[in-house]
Amino acid sequence: MDHYLKLAARYDEYYRYSDRYIAYFTDKIIKALPVRPGESVVELGAGTCIFAQEILKRVPYLDMVCVDNSAAMLRSAEHTAIKRVCRDAVCFAAEDTRYHRVYMKEFIHHLDTAAREELFKGLYRQLYPGGSLLILMEPRRLNYPLFDEALRRFEQGQPSRTAIMAQLEHAGFTVSFDVFAYPINLSRQKYTEMVRNRYMSVLETFTADELEAGIQSITEGQPETELEYLESFYGIVGKK
Ligand SMILES: C[S@@+](CC[C@H](N)C(=O)[O-])C[C@H]1O[C@@H](n2cnc3c(N)ncnc32)[C@H](O)[C@@H]1O
Repeated sequence: MDHYLKLAARYDEYYRYSDRYIAYFTDKIIKALPVRPGESVVELGAGTCIFAQEILKRVPYLDMVCVDNSAAMLRSAEHTAIKRVCRDAVCFAAEDTRYHRVYMKEFIHHLDTAAREELFKGLYRQLYPGGSLLILMEPRRLNYPLFDEALRRFEQGQPSRTAIMAQLEHAGFTVSFDVFAYPINLSRQKYTEMVRNRYMSVLETFTADELEAGIQSITEGQPETELEYLESFYGIVGKK
């Protein structure tokens, strides 16, 4: 079964770490793009539209479109002011449409090099002159309290920041980047439940027994009942 079909019902429970966490990254998206009142904004790989909903609360008169290829994820988003489009992001980027801003968070690792090239070319064409793009992506080496093999496989599958920046430049963007980080505190019990429910797509690559062995090593390696770690993102901005 598709990863996000299984995860959709629990996505917000696992990924909305706290209101402050959402506020922190919403603020970063608004400032980095930047999003201004009255603009048209697209989120790609928007999932349950957690951040699009928050942006709408803070910036007035936006025309907000959320694109995701999982109907189950989009269904969880209830905000009526958001236009939800169930479509592959690369197909969306080939359409005849125009907007001021486009952003994506924890999405770009789902596309391979060739798909990213097509995506970036299409987004550059669709953006109005002076428009901009923001990619929030995790570094290849995570400091999550995960087990070693999961961290290693994530690192193997995650594109590097420099590869993404080079591809954006090749598509025509003027590129810059920043680093954003937010401290996460949660109980080890909650975290191991998230791992058991394969909250990250990399966890789909483990059998049930391997996953249990991994959870065992998390518990042995981190006996504290509260876990604390820093969630970091590169914020890569491309200007047209
Ligand atoms: C980790 S979630 C991130 C959701 C949201 N951006 C957030 O930060 O809460 C990744 C999302 O990308 C979507 N996705 C994966 N591949 C896609 C594609 N080719 N086109 C559109 N959406 C895609 C998944 O369905 C999922 O909702």
